[in-house]
Amino acid sequence: MRNKIKNYRIFSLFAIVAIISISSFLISCEQDEIYVAPPPPGGCDTVNVTFTVTIQNILASKCVSCHGSAGGVDLNGYANVKTNVDNGKLQNAIIPGGSMRSLLSSCDADQIIAWINKGAPNN
Ligand code: HEC
Repeated sequence: MRNKIKNYRIFSLFAIVAIISISSFLISCEQDEIYVAPPPPGGCDTVNVTFTVTIQNILASKCVSCHGSAGGVDLNGYANVKTNVDNGKLQNAIIPGGSMRSLLSSCDADQIIAWINKGAPNN
């Protein structure tokens, strides 16, 4: 009889420990799932950046008026933009202190740099 009580106590102790560890495991999993990265300051999306949706629009509205096909730096169309990425001119012009930096918002510049860092894909 005594042994049975002792076994029962050990079992309940074990059960309590198991319940606590399982529930804390579940809680931690749940927190992982509901965790959403806070939006970057200013709500600038540097993750979903594509040439056709993001980069081309920035360049078309802020750069192509001077950098069309009339010689010099041409930022019209993917092939020309890629040329100026590959030779480093675009990056140099838009990083802080770059000659064209003041024409862009910091979000524009961050998005262009993010796209270049992904290998400047034609997407
Ligand atoms: C008001 C006209 C004008 C606008 C708008 C303009 N640029 Fe320029 N940009 C120039 C001039 C002028 C030069 C120097 C001559 C040249 O290289 O074509 C230049 C030079 C450059 C260069 C070459 C720098 C080097 O190292 O040779 C790059 C790259 C450039 N601009 C990128 C941009 C980008 C990106 C934008 C849009 C944010 C932009 N430009 C908007 C006039 C402009």
